[in-house]
Amino acid sequence: MAAKVFFFCSLALAILCFAYASDSSPLQDFCVAVPTASVTLFNVSVTVNGLVCKDPKQVTANDFSFSGLHIPGNTSNAVGSKVTPVFVNQLPALNTLGISMARLDYAISGINPPHFHPRATEIFMVLEGSIRVGFVTSNPENRLITKVLNKGDVFVFPVGLAHFQQNVGTGNAVAIAGLSSQNPGVITVANAVFGSKPDIAPDALAKAFQLDKNIVSQLQAKF
Ligand SMILES: *[C@@H]1O[C@H](CO)[C@@H](O)[C@H](O)[C@H]1NC(C)=O
Ligand SMILES: *[C@@H]1O[C@H](CO)[C@@H](O)[C@H](O)[C@H]1NC(C)=O
Repeated sequence: MAAKVFFFCSLALAILCFAYASDSSPLQDFCVAVPTASVTLFNVSVTVNGLVCKDPKQVTANDFSFSGLHIPGNTSNAVGSKVTPVFVNQLPALNTLGISMARLDYAISGINPPHFHPRATEIFMVLEGSIRVGFVTSNPENRLITKVLNKGDVFVFPVGLAHFQQNVGTGNAVAIAGLSSQNPGVITVANAVFGSKPDIAPDALAKAFQLDKNIVSQLQAKF
């Protein structure tokens, strides 16, 4: 009996520990970020995991606020979509709070290309239009989980998984996303693979993707 209780207590503890996977909890009310460029300590600029805090007595309401998310993003680009982030760089009070958001605009057929956030789960809501969303599970299944969302529909992209959204409606589409990090990070798959600086050797990519080397070079020129 005691062993069983111990087992379940250990399990509960393990689950609690695993659930604690977002940015670490703040140990103070807030830690409004100071722009990194202006931070020096003993005459050397310092970098920490996150951003250093402004003196709490110096913070103002503006540090906690961002304006402009009513403005549509400019979707005149190759992919026909635009992300307007409200991450810690745009809203300094997000520092240490483990949360952020973004506005997403899509022209007709516009796509937010396959990408992933190394540090955040994303919850996504359609404000206007019809958007096909999807994510792919990790190896070896690589299962595509996909759905067409309409106004008011919500979808969640689990942390670290490659995902995309495409406007499949007859007009512009708009969505809003919440992310479980002040600085989610964005890795666009094609840019990481074909757009690295410097290039990954074309013969390596040709072998990896089982493509002709000329096609790899064409892709590298694009990204
Ligand atoms: C601080 O850094 C600046 C520029 O890097 C340098 O010119 C200055 O001499 C330094 N001051 C001290 C006290 O080391
Ligand atoms: C949108 O972006 C395109 C391409 O960069 C640019 O030519 C156009 O002027 C921009 N439109 C607005 C309203 O800013």
